Amino acid sequence: MTKQIIINTDIEKSTINKNIYGHFAEHLGRCIYEGFWVGEDSPIPNTNGIRNDVVEALKNINIPLLRWPGGCFADEYHWKDGIGPREGRKRMVNTHWGGVVENNHFGTHEFMLLCDMLGAEPYINGNVGSGTVLEMQEWIEYLTFEGESPMSNLRKENGREEPWKVKYFGVGNENWGCGGNMRPQYYSDLYRQFQTYVRNYGDNKLYKIAGGANVDDYNWTEVLMRESAPLMDGLSLHYYTIPGDFWEGKGSATDPSESEWFITMQKALHMDELITKHSTIMDKYDPDKRIGMIIDEWGTWFDVEPGTNPGFLYQQNTIRDALVAGLHFHIFHEHSDRVHMTNIAQTINVLQSVLLTEGEKMILTPTYHVFEMFKVHQDAQFLSVSADVQSYKMDEKELPQVSVSASKAANGEVNISLCNIDTKNDAPLSLQLRGLTEGEPKVTGRVLTADKTNSHNTFDQPENVSPKELKNINVSEGALSVTLPPMSVSVITLSN
Ligand code: AHR
Repeated sequence: MTKQIIINTDIEKSTINKNIYGHFAEHLGRCIYEGFWVGEDSPIPNTNGIRNDVVEALKNINIPLLRWPGGCFADEYHWKDGIGPREGRKRMVNTHWGGVVENNHFGTHEFMLLCDMLGAEPYINGNVGSGTVLEMQEWIEYLTFEGESPMSNLRKENGREEPWKVKYFGVGNENWGCGGNMRPQYYSDLYRQFQTYVRNYGDNKLYKIAGGANVDDYNWTEVLMRESAPLMDGLSLHYYTIPGDFWEGKGSATDPSESEWFITMQKALHMDELITKHSTIMDKYDPDKRIGMIIDEWGTWFDVEPGTNPGFLYQQNTIRDALVAGLHFHIFHEHSDRVHMTNIAQTINVLQSVLLTEGEKMILTPTYHVFEMFKVHQDAQFLSVSADVQSYKMDEKELPQVSVSASKAANGEVNISLCNIDTKNDAPLSLQLRGLTEGEPKVTGRVLTADKTNSHNTFDQPENVSPKELKNINVSEGALSVTLPPMSVSVITLSN
């Protein structure tokens, strides 16, 4: 039995920015091409070349924003290659990802149309590593300038009269690595220079995101904050959950040993320490928390599926991924005073995807279902929770068996999400519902679970892992009792 969980339904700590549920789409493998984009002549149902099934599925999880075009690809991308009549667009080699031909058929206009169809904010990542200040300046002008100018005239020639609204703009990506192998002092100076020309035209106000640290490179955050904090609105952080070794073997997506499962959970939970330590540095220079921590790449990174292009980063997605997603969201909620946006890597067919496609078929992954179940947390008030729970043990190590997070929606509904990471044991829980004023609430619940550690959806069995009703939830005298099955993600809703 649980030691104690208290949900303080009357103590609101911060707003869970809906952008915490953001996405990332790179020109990598089959994310853009075959994932989002099939072209107007495709037999796959599409609107102006963009897959209809994908748009519908992402709208259903209230996708708040989408980061594009990379990733490492961003620092090799020259936006002018991706405008104008498609047949005339430059064909290039995607050197980072699989060495395949990039025909630039999906460019600025296609991306902005996609965001429009999704009802999602665009988050565009500019090129510092191999681009110029002028190129970045002109992209902003092309996108957002209304009056008479070379770039706005070019946009009009390409069929778009009105400027677009763009808020989020990244000045480089992983500039400590694929984005130029820079040292923090050097990047910080480049950031200062490039961002000067990332201009606000008319009433379009940009939110400028500086390229942040890799994992636990606290010195990077220190230097960026010390040297450039007043010139940024956000600072990024990248951290992937990799059970094995990045170069020697990350581990299979679909065949985890018990120990790999445990390590995956342990590494997912490490996100909390990383955010805490980077936040402390940010607090030193920005005590009012004006600058957002933007975790614009996170998720599991396993070995690619056997037989697929190693440069395409295609991996299956199991109940283990669902738990990793649930744990991450709980950590992000906890830090929502500083974490203003996160972007799972990546939306379709790459790394921890929410959707997988094969020709005209599309499936929803277990991770997708977590996004769908957790959408109730978007823009809700994060509630104070205290949780002292049983341990999930492996050899000499232990982790908290259950992770819990709660929020209050604008309509007063309280949503409690719970992850039981134990592969074998149920979690019988009793939650104290402190602070409820309106008598006993109406309670409903949903659960995503599976009977094997590698359970996943396939194109033949697309519903294998999908949410079901969570039964036997009882509320009496201000306490809620429920039993969570092993390997499960649940959401319980209290309403009046
Ligand atoms: O998401 C895949 C890659 O991981 C991105 O391109 C890069 O930014 C990171 O290293």
